[in-house]
Amino acid sequence: MSSPHDAPVAASRGPVEWPETLLPQVQDILSRYPTKQAAVMPLLWLAQDIWDWLDLDVMRLVARTIEVPPSQVHAVASFYSMFKKAPTGKYLVQVCQTLSCALVGAEGIIKHLEKALDVDAHGNSKDGLFTLLRVECLASCGSAPMMQVNEHFYERLTPETCDQIIAGLRSGKPLSLPRPEVDVWTFPVS
Ligand code: FES
Repeated sequence: MSSPHDAPVAASRGPVEWPETLLPQVQDILSRYPTKQAAVMPLLWLAQDIWDWLDLDVMRLVARTIEVPPSQVHAVASFYSMFKKAPTGKYLVQVCQTLSCALVGAEGIIKHLEKALDVDAHGNSKDGLFTLLRVECLASCGSAPMMQVNEHFYERLTPETCDQIIAGLRSGKPLSLPRPEVDVWTFPVS
């Protein structure tokens, strides 16, 4: 499964400017950092909130705002999977494929979700509701395998819990699963 989010080049929807009503918020973000450049991530986050996903023109606007070359903003946006570089379904399903999750069945979970969501080669479901992405570690390694759906973590996944989660999202009643016990390894300190 490839994804438009894998590609370092985002499409363009035409030049944009910050909405006038949000200029105070932009200024507020800039004022919180010692340099304008340091505000790149919160500004990308704000831009994603406004335009839903980040195309090249949105990245150029952020670059103008913090006075750096667009390539610098593009590099940051490309590195972090939390920044969307293409349109997605209502639910962005990000499944961790890094070592801890891989060792306890992430690949099987991904294959199960591909089938259950009926996604195309770009990870989009035919009903437009879901986008499925493989991502690297989401910092929940002790409760692997796991996935993030929009802002929510679902952990210790099995094919069955995945089905329950999908059914809940489809019905508009997202499932709330209790946080699992997390494995903790301790090492003797000499
Ligand atoms: S390896 Fe999957 S959350 Fe860290």
